[in-house]
Amino acid sequence: MSLKIELLQSSFLEARTRETEFTTYFYTNLFADFPEVKPLFANTNMEAQGKKLFQSLAFVVDHLSKPDALSNTLKGLGTRHIQYGVLPSHYQMVGSTLLKALSLCLGEAWTPNTEQAWSEAYAAVTQLMLSGAEYPSEILIPDPNLKQ
Ligand code: HEM
Repeated sequence: MSLKIELLQSSFLEARTRETEFTTYFYTNLFADFPEVKPLFANTNMEAQGKKLFQSLAFVVDHLSKPDALSNTLKGLGTRHIQYGVLPSHYQMVGSTLLKALSLCLGEAWTPNTEQAWSEAYAAVTQLMLSGAEYPSEILIPDPNLKQ
């Protein structure tokens, strides 16, 4: 995995100064664009959840050069997400919402390069989280790069 570490870290600096705005954008857009995931958060304190999400993103950004720490943490997070009712297909919804929230926070600083860096990073995060979660094979999303 060769992620654009400097670009990811510098672009996340802006989000760090606007954490509440970022998490509000994130969950507002997630529920507007993908209402099917709203029931998963039916009993969730959304203010606390926003903080947890932000902290975990900050952890990822701060540990991009430490693949072992990233891998252990994200596999564990992926395992716990099974209990929250999260399915593999939900990851793509959260991914596009994450990019949208970042683009809203960054404004003109959100360039095609930045978008690509985050898109690659999110794909790597998803892969690690899913590798920590044993979903039945019938609900796993087929890898488009694999020939059937
Ligand atoms: C980059 C991917 C993701 C990150 C970094 C992330 C982060 C987190 C964190 C830190 C928590 C707090 C609980 C814990 O640490 O176990 C959490 C809980 C949760 N996440 Fe995620 N998550 C991700 C993907 C998803 C996806 C794809 C969904 C599906 C819509 C989702 C839905 C939930 C739910 C329902 C909870 C439990 C809320 C509760 O406690 O009531 N997450 N997530």
